Amino acid sequence: MLQEVEALYVIDAEHSEYKKYYKTYLDSIVKSKNVSFEAESKVLYKNASKILLDFFENPENMTNYDSIKKIVGDIVGTVADEHFRVKSLMSEATGEYYVHTHSLNVTIYSLCLGTCIGLSKDELHELGESAMLHDIGKSKIDSAIIDKNGKLTKKEFEEVKKHALFGYEMAKKIGIKNENILAGIIYHHEKIDGTGYPCGLKEEHIPLYARIISICSIFNAITSKRTYRDALLTFDALKLMKLQMKDYLDSKLINKFIEIFK
Ligand SMILES: [Fe+2]
Repeated sequence: MLQEVEALYVIDAEHSEYKKYYKTYLDSIVKSKNVSFEAESKVLYKNASKILLDFFENPENMTNYDSIKKIVGDIVGTVADEHFRVKSLMSEATGEYYVHTHSLNVTIYSLCLGTCIGLSKDELHELGESAMLHDIGKSKIDSAIIDKNGKLTKKEFEEVKKHALFGYEMAKKIGIKNENILAGIIYHHEKIDGTGYPCGLKEEHIPLYARIISICSIFNAITSKRTYRDALLTFDALKLMKLQMKDYLDSKLINKFIEIFK
C-alpha cells in the first residue's frame, strides 16, 4: 500500500485528524515487514519532521513534547537495530537548513554516535531528547535574525547566544527535570578550549551529551545548504572539523564520529 501511494492531499479542515493519525500509527507503519528499509526511513523521517515542525510552532505544548519522546524512541530502535537501517536513515538527513530538520538530523547523528561509544538504551533516550530540544530556545529569538541570509552582526550574534539559556528554561517549563537532558541543551555551544558559551566550560567539564550534540550540530550545519552558501560534502566537513576545529571539539568523539561514515 505505502509503496503505491506517492502523495497524499489533506484538506485544511481535516489536518488535525491527519496529524492524530500519523502520530498514532507511525509505529506500525515503520515496523511493517512489507516495507523496505529505505521506505521505512523515508516515512520515519518525513513524519518526524512534521512532528518537529508542530513542536517548534508551539514548544510549550505537552502533547507535542509527548510526540517528541515517541519519535526519539523510534529513532533509538532504528539506530540500535542494524547498521544498514542507520545508513538509510542518515541518507534522509540532507538538504536545506531549517531549525526543525536541523534538530532531527542532529538527533539522528547523535544517536548514531551515542550507539558507537556504547551508551545504554536509557542513555540514548536521554541523549535523543536533549538533541531534539537543543535549539528549542531559538523559537524565542527574532526569526529575522535566525533566518538571516548571511553573516550575523556582533549584536545579532549576542542575541542568538541567548538561545542556550532560553532552551534550558523552556525545557524545565515543559517538565524536564533530568539533569543530563538539560545539560545537553544549555551547554551545546561550549568549546573544549573554554571559548564557548554560555559558561565558558572547558574539556571534560562540558557534559558528554553537550560534547556529542556540539559535533553533530556543527556537522549538520556545514553539510546543509543555505541560500548564501553551498553545503560541504561529508568528507570535506569531517576534515574541516578534525583539523580546523580541534581546539573546540572533543577529539576522541570526533574520531568515533568519523567511523560512522566508513
Ligand atoms: Fe544551538
